[in-house]
Amino acid sequence: MRAKLLWLITNSCAGDIISLLNSLHPDYRQITEEYFAFCYETFLMAGEGNVATGVLEEAISGPAGAYILVVEGTVPVAAEGLYCVIGLRNGKPWTALEAVRELAAKARYVVAAGTCAAFGGPYAAHPNPTGGKPVSAVIPQKVINVPGCPVHPAWIAGTLFHLVEHGEPRLDEYNRPVLYYGETIHDRCERRHYFESGIFAQKPGEPWCMYKIGCKGPVTYADCPVRHWCGEHTNWPVGANTPCIGCTSPEFPDRTAPFFEHLPDLRTPAGKVTADRVGLLTGAATALGIGAHLAANIATGRLAHTLRKGKKIKNNHTKTQRRKDAKKNI
Ligand code: SF4
Ligand code: F3S
Repeated sequence: MRAKLLWLITNSCAGDIISLLNSLHPDYRQITEEYFAFCYETFLMAGEGNVATGVLEEAISGPAGAYILVVEGTVPVAAEGLYCVIGLRNGKPWTALEAVRELAAKARYVVAAGTCAAFGGPYAAHPNPTGGKPVSAVIPQKVINVPGCPVHPAWIAGTLFHLVEHGEPRLDEYNRPVLYYGETIHDRCERRHYFESGIFAQKPGEPWCMYKIGCKGPVTYADCPVRHWCGEHTNWPVGANTPCIGCTSPEFPDRTAPFFEHLPDLRTPAGKVTADRVGLLTGAATALGIGAHLAANIATGRLAHTLRKGKKIKNNHTKTQRRKDAKKNI
């Protein structure tokens, strides 16, 4: 029997459901016709008005544990939730805040799709006039967070399949599936050797490590470098010459911006390498993670010199390698 799925869009750009539509294996038809009974989805369903909200009413009055609730978007709490209304109930606005609370109470699992639902994201960014909150802030139930701006189709489809086939996946401290968010972007980045060698792009378009022009890869957890986007292994931000802006992080976007600003400082086991902003973003654990491989470079003084002084370094990679990389990336 297909698992029953309710996908509620609150304050969001709808990028996450669009992302799911781009899933390849399985594709959207298989997801909706073979694996899940997609009973409610704000933008895709044909029904409207009471016909649509009636599906939610039915779920709320039905047995507990009969469906998975996916929420996409922040839940606004200012003005008693009136910044997001999903329909009318008894002639009065039915707010997303009420709907999320009522639906979560009966759900088998609650999944937050995208960074807005998981952590607040752009819809809760400063000055946040709607009082937008992540789902976990408005309900007592556990929320499985599947962030991304938008969420990668494989991350959300894979998480939903895992829930149905194997139960809850292993989660990290932010309730993200370790399967997809277990390592930093930096851990598997194809430009990591440039970072290690202290060879940095000075402006977008240069094929070197983009740490100095704002890359948040060292403090961002996701598998983009190996999974890629836009179909099967097409490309990903760093591959397309743009720094990772940390879109899967709880800090995104207020504390990962400015996106193209050099974050010069690093905290490492070897001591402070003037890394105040990175330290603030990540805390000691992540700093230690990036510190381990940095220690050697710091010991030689090469990386510390580059980052601390912000001085342009001599590109000491071989000419052949540089030519190859330039051809591939520009
Ligand atoms: Fe890749 Fe960014 Fe790390 Fe540089 S800082 S190696 S571009 S993830
Ligand atoms: Fe987001 Fe960074 Fe991946 S910006 S899409 S986590 S490379």
